[in-house]
Amino acid sequence: MTQDELKALVGRAALRYVVPGTVIGVGTGSTVNHFIDALATMQSPVAGAVSSSKASTERLAARGIRVLEAGEVQRLPVYVDGADEIDARGCMIKGGGAALTREKIVADLAERFVCIADASKRVEVLGRFPLPVEVIAMALPQVARRFEALGGKAVQRPGVLTDNGHPVLDVRGLSITDPPAMEAEINQWPGVVTVGIFARHRAGTCLLGTAEGVVTLSY
Ligand code: A5P
Repeated sequence: MTQDELKALVGRAALRYVVPGTVIGVGTGSTVNHFIDALATMQSPVAGAVSSSKASTERLAARGIRVLEAGEVQRLPVYVDGADEIDARGCMIKGGGAALTREKIVADLAERFVCIADASKRVEVLGRFPLPVEVIAMALPQVARRFEALGGKAVQRPGVLTDNGHPVLDVRGLSITDPPAMEAEINQWPGVVTVGIFARHRAGTCLLGTAEGVVTLSY
């Protein structure tokens, strides 16, 4: 199977975590696009979705799924999203699509984070994928210097601003052996909006697309 077929497989498999008539959280990316397409085929539909990006909002709306603002709900039963990397504890790197801040906000509303990913995303140690960090523009140089002190090389993602209007740094060369500690550390650097380590909001379940089918991992 191709990588895209694996993404489609887990996108469809995530429907088993969706209860008709509820409002759910929806992430961003090519895997989630398959999930949104699958959502639109449900016989008994969801009541609506809180979206983590303009791109997902457009796709949801185009398929007739009502989109609610995060402020309109207090809790979501489930949040379904992809990842750039996921480790053995369900900690993730996210933000390859620059939606990390809104993804973390919507994930924070959810009782369960269901990660959908093809098998290539499963890693032993996070950090081979460049770590995305949304940063206030005036702080870019000093945040980059802080990463240098940690042994990382931060480069601004060319031509990209997030849905919130901020630039993104991609940091190479980090070995993230303690994701909760590194997330907490980077989060308190002035100018950092969101770091793409999802440890505090890690996945509770991961549906991993493999050549043998969908493997369900629980954390
Ligand atoms: C979006 O900002 C990311 O966090 C995505 O969830 C992540 O990049 C996975 O994307 P794909 O499903 O396209 O691989």
